[in-house]
Amino acid sequence: MEGIVNQTGIEILSDIKASSADILAKYGGIVPEVAAREQVASIIPVIETAIKTSGLSLFEIDAVAVTEGPGLIGSLLIGVETAKSLALAWKKPLIKVNHMAAHVFANWITDMQVPELPAVALIVSGGHTDLILISSLDKWEWIGGTRDDAAGEAFDKAARAMGFPYPGGPLISKAAAEAELDLPATMKLPRPMINEDSLEMSFSGLKTALVQVMEINKQKLINQPKLVNSLAKEFNEAVSEVLIKKTLMAVERYQPKSVLLAGGVAANQILRLNLESEIKKRGVDIFVPNLKYCTDNAAMIAACAILRPVYIDP
Ligand code: KG4
Ligand code: ZN
Repeated sequence: MEGIVNQTGIEILSDIKASSADILAKYGGIVPEVAAREQVASIIPVIETAIKTSGLSLFEIDAVAVTEGPGLIGSLLIGVETAKSLALAWKKPLIKVNHMAAHVFANWITDMQVPELPAVALIVSGGHTDLILISSLDKWEWIGGTRDDAAGEAFDKAARAMGFPYPGGPLISKAAAEAELDLPATMKLPRPMINEDSLEMSFSGLKTALVQVMEINKQKLINQPKLVNSLAKEFNEAVSEVLIKKTLMAVERYQPKSVLLAGGVAANQILRLNLESEIKKRGVDIFVPNLKYCTDNAAMIAACAILRPVYIDP
């Protein structure tokens, strides 16, 4: 993924992605070795396309930005070494970007009002579920999050249990939207830690509960296959309700001006809509990234590099 943004605001000039969706579906997830091999093959063509699409010449590009982590080490190394080589060859400064911070800065990719600080950010991705207090662009404090599985990981594991391919989040979301049948009481799922006075969360038990519910209701699911959509909705609501309740607790404690949703799970419609309405009720501004900037993308890396540049030697 490679992105180019305009210096005057976070306007995206190009945002190109090399997709390995077929491979991910085939292996049921990311195989680090396979991902790294794919990336070696696609990184230069993607950069070339990004520059061409932006309509800029090399002279008009001010810097090269690259994700330093967190992530899969093989993929990170390929990105960092490529960026270093380009920065050296093009004589441009090199900026390192934290992947999770970049997810949050996707909220600055807008031609509308940008978030006012202090803000509480809820970062929900495949590997992370964190609540962050952002007092200024570079003063960030971790205030809560999951003690085990990330929200996206919970979606992916639940999807696998329900027979959906990887990545499962979008498919659970789609199935939930298609739910028609009422959920039998025996198929209700828990909302882990929702009533605990803490910003900690836990999602690993939810997947276990789902597997048990499927086992107990095996015959019902065979007789009424559409019940799987209702179960997907129940799972989606269980995760969302916990995330929303903990974010509301953080709002109560820290009194921010804005709440920022970020990460791949921010693409989830139930979470987006319900969080928006709950936060608005409390008179706080709520920001959710444009759908295309929720899951991993290069535009958010460039946005982070502009708003909070950390220069490194190539
Ligand atoms: O941020 P991201 O693209 O990659 C990481 O940094 O991890 O997040 C990917 C995660 C996956 O777990 C995927 O299932 C989840 O985001 N995801 C969703 C949706 N779209 C992506 N989860 C729920 N609903 C969605 N619509
Ligand atoms: Zn991500």
